[in-house]
Amino acid sequence: MNFNSQNVSSNRKSKTFNNPERFIEGWYWAIPSTDLRVGEVKPITLLGRDLVIYRGKDKKAVTFDAYCPHMGAHLAEGKVEGNGLRCSFHQWKFDNEGFCVDIPCLDEPLPLKLKAWPTAEKYGMIWVWTGEVSLQPLPFIPELEQQDCDVAIVSQLLTNCHPNVVIINAIDTQYLNTVKRLPLENLFEKEELNQNAITFSNSTRVREGNFLRRLIRPFYKNALNYSICYWYGSTSMVTFIPNFLHLHIMLTLRLIAGGKTEGYTLLMIKKRRGIFGHLYNWIVLWVGKILSQDFLKVDAKIFEKIQFDLRTPIKTDQAIMQFINHLERQTALCWGTWQEGRSLRDPETRDNRDKWRDVLND
Ligand code: FES
Repeated sequence: MNFNSQNVSSNRKSKTFNNPERFIEGWYWAIPSTDLRVGEVKPITLLGRDLVIYRGKDKKAVTFDAYCPHMGAHLAEGKVEGNGLRCSFHQWKFDNEGFCVDIPCLDEPLPLKLKAWPTAEKYGMIWVWTGEVSLQPLPFIPELEQQDCDVAIVSQLLTNCHPNVVIINAIDTQYLNTVKRLPLENLFEKEELNQNAITFSNSTRVREGNFLRRLIRPFYKNALNYSICYWYGSTSMVTFIPNFLHLHIMLTLRLIAGGKTEGYTLLMIKKRRGIFGHLYNWIVLWVGKILSQDFLKVDAKIFEKIQFDLRTPIKTDQAIMQFINHLERQTALCWGTWQEGRSLRDPETRDNRDKWRDVLND
């Protein structure tokens, strides 16, 4: 097979992938659960939008837009009262759905509502959905969908390139084979779970070879099964450690100013009962933490300086192209405003722009 026949078409016109002003509507990590105690309120900036997050008496985390609808005080300066939040400036109070329920100098509150965002907790993190109503579940690994997990936060990540670029690393077989020395087949099986989730799997017979291959071979009598599930182009869950361990690595990222990335790496394992179950999970998570920190160190260096541009895709980059195509079909929002993102090339956007120009000129 010559080189040309291995070439696949490039996707250089992508509107969302690696775009520093777009992200996919979906669930994004806000803060680790342990960073928000009952009665605490904190400011967060999520995908360029200022928010406030608090935990009421009922222990539920609640997320609002950050600024008070009266005069714009930052609500993180306020106080949690029961399950609601009171602004520190003129003491207006909002319930956990954002409705104004008390204005001290008036007999009746005004019919005002703070913008509240769907908020949930899983895997030791608080997650926020970046739209009106959550349309898809929190990210999950298909085999762990109904399972409770033990989780360890391994590391925090801050890097100079876009989350989409960081996350495709896990399906870059050339890189995994040569640098990480993972004995994977070049091509993945892909399956689209829904509009926002896609899995790639790879099953390889482990042959004799380097130290890593010899080390893992006893655990994979038949084949090495490596699979990865992507959600919203920003959270990935990788499973490649022996099946009897059921250890999974989650990389959950979000886009920050300048097209950069911040995120967390988590390890997850199915909950086990009893003291020995707890002890077993603790040891596996501890070993996994040491191994994964080493594994992620090399990547960090590459992502500091990369100027990503997939100019010459070849057949072994197929999974990356499939990831990009799936991403481009998801709903993209604008970083900062969370409005639906449209390219200036889109006819509808152009028409609207022209309409406004006409109005302004009248
Ligand atoms: S600014 Fe919040 S109550 Fe006035």
